Amino acid sequence: MKGRFHPKNNVTLNPSCNESICDVIDRVSMSRRKFIFTAASASVLTVVGEVSVGGFLQSVEAVPIPKGTGFGGIGFKSIPPNLLNPATGLLEKDLVSVPEGYTVKVLVAWGDPIIPDAPTWLADASQDAAAQEKQFGMHADGMHYFPLSPRKVVGRTVSSQARSLRRFLNRPINTGLLCVNHEYTQESILHGFEGLSPVTIAKVRKSQAAHGVSVVEISKKGSDWTYNRNSSYGRRITANTEMRVSGPAAGSALLKSKKFDITPQGSFEIGINDGYTAYGTLNNCAHGYTPWGTYLTCEENWNGYFGNGGEPLASTSGIEDSEILAGQNRYGLSADGFNYRWHEVDPRFNNRTNPLEPHLFGWVVEIDPYDPQSKPIKRTALGRFKHESAQVVVDDNHRVAFYMGDDERNEYIYKFVCAQPLRPGNPASNRDLLDNGILYVAKFNDNGTGEWLPLVYGQNGLTPENGFRSQAEVLVKTRQAADRVGATMMDRPEWTAVRPQIGGYKEIEVYCTLTNNTRRGTNPPSSNNPDGTTAGGSARPPVDAANPRPDNRYGHIIRWREDGRSVAATTFKWDIFIEAGDKTRPEPNLQGNIQGDDLSSPDGLWFDDFGRLWIQTDHAGDGRGDLANIGSNTMLCADPNTKQVKLFLTSPMDCEVTGVITTPDGKAMFVNIQHPGDSGNASNPTLTSNWPHTQGYGPSGRPRSATVVITRNDGGVIGGL
Ligand code: FEO
Ligand code: CA
Ligand code: CA
Ligand code: CA
Repeated sequence: MKGRFHPKNNVTLNPSCNESICDVIDRVSMSRRKFIFTAASASVLTVVGEVSVGGFLQSVEAVPIPKGTGFGGIGFKSIPPNLLNPATGLLEKDLVSVPEGYTVKVLVAWGDPIIPDAPTWLADASQDAAAQEKQFGMHADGMHYFPLSPRKVVGRTVSSQARSLRRFLNRPINTGLLCVNHEYTQESILHGFEGLSPVTIAKVRKSQAAHGVSVVEISKKGSDWTYNRNSSYGRRITANTEMRVSGPAAGSALLKSKKFDITPQGSFEIGINDGYTAYGTLNNCAHGYTPWGTYLTCEENWNGYFGNGGEPLASTSGIEDSEILAGQNRYGLSADGFNYRWHEVDPRFNNRTNPLEPHLFGWVVEIDPYDPQSKPIKRTALGRFKHESAQVVVDDNHRVAFYMGDDERNEYIYKFVCAQPLRPGNPASNRDLLDNGILYVAKFNDNGTGEWLPLVYGQNGLTPENGFRSQAEVLVKTRQAADRVGATMMDRPEWTAVRPQIGGYKEIEVYCTLTNNTRRGTNPPSSNNPDGTTAGGSARPPVDAANPRPDNRYGHIIRWREDGRSVAATTFKWDIFIEAGDKTRPEPNLQGNIQGDDLSSPDGLWFDDFGRLWIQTDHAGDGRGDLANIGSNTMLCADPNTKQVKLFLTSPMDCEVTGVITTPDGKAMFVNIQHPGDSGNASNPTLTSNWPHTQGYGPSGRPRSATVVITRNDGGVIGGL
């Protein structure tokens, strides 16, 4: 996330002396930096002629990208970027734009009523927390579509891919549930013309209600998609919703924070939590789904909602103060957090007087969208960090794994492998698969191989003498455990995406966006302070002839293949899929090309069922500086074989494009526009954007994050030939 009102995830909290991915890449010889592709892929490159990695910016391509191995081809014509107009200082268009032959429509926006009796949104943002609790939350991010009709298949696995696709292609997809994350809020837009000054419990409750997850029923009538404002499935999960904690850390003393009666008037202390209960989910960034039909929402920058007024640390039974403080440092807790100021009126969020509460955040939360009464479950087996997304793979032996990134500079990539195999067709027996298994962290070697290092109590130094007294402690302190075993520091891992096994493609191939790392390259290299903090000049791995970018400003996408085509493999092969960039600003890059693709800060990442890779971007600056030729944030479509990329969607000013899913037939695509116009302020909310009003949706008055639906005018599959 790069919203103006959001942290840049650019602090360096990792005090380990582990190797960084930059160091590893530097040592990889040029010839080994790419997977060797099949002859078929090579011939595709030849046929297309104009190769790919150089991008599309200056020449809008009309030629379709043909099908290839495990790839359905790309049929649309690239659109031009939405650039800055120097005369106005604004982007040319305050719109979402899509290619010729496609239609984009706003489906649901922040504040829209999604539960019976919810009030209609007011453009002066004068509504209170009680209204917001029944309305679509702010700043939409990751999301998934769960069909209601037909109900059966909720998502694909790489191995069942082709079958489920065939089942759906000829059946109407009429009604479904969108589960949508609401990552964060912009207080100056949320609270009307007064903004956050002064801070009150009423405002904090509204802010908490605008976080979390929405379950929204949507349906298609004719060719038109709309949401149902009176759905019995409609649901809001917020920063205060009661949840169950399960898995190895449940019941641990580390999770027994103060218990509060959470009311509209305040949070009143009533005892101690039992370690099996948590309240709320925060900073729900990206997401995942399970093959048994549930939604996974991932807690990313939850640390920023905590703060303190300099109070002394409250004592907790059996846990050393120094240990609590070390943990708070490693996860970036501070006195002011991200200036949400919740702790000033809600003592639950004071990290000194309620110091174990932060241990209840940083998890993957499982939600059953089909049962509005179900309690969300924090699944501790998947580790505690700044979770970006959790993408599932089921291999041919029905083993199940989830691939996950920890989005902060110099943090790690993880996978969780369930102990038990999936039992297809038996959702009940799969329900607690997420409670037992092994959490691994990735180490990338410089010969193009990698290892998954298990984070298991008693192994690899995860022992009492090193501060790990149980598996619960390994999981609560996942980052420290990964430091200990020697994982590889990455350039801010964002989403993971799994390539489908279609058209003869058999590998288990996982991609991860490494959005950027603008602190690379000093000579001599410098390191972090011992407490994990870093000053301006520190934590910069060196540059050299093979890796000459002084800053990884534009980011890149890494991918790996599991050895033996098993998700339980402990070794893999890896390469760099693309380095992002701007071809008019030549910078030698990792693959020996002159420049990267014309995109910056890849973040959202998703494979459709036809093997097309969709890339969403999250840069700050909209056409200024390094982004002069790139313009607004975008969504692009890539061929995983040839790396050809086409621009599919451009966005309004000051927003991120994030969250993408289609209906199972591929004919309706949903995309989120997050924090449009976030340069606006309380007294002038529409300073840089009045979207989605500018796209014909809702009253004028303030910009709103929203979900759009994209269809093809000929009724075809989105992106297809
Ligand atoms: Fe919420 Fe890492 O983006
Ligand atoms: Ca963002
Ligand atoms: Ca992200
Ligand atoms: Ca981002």
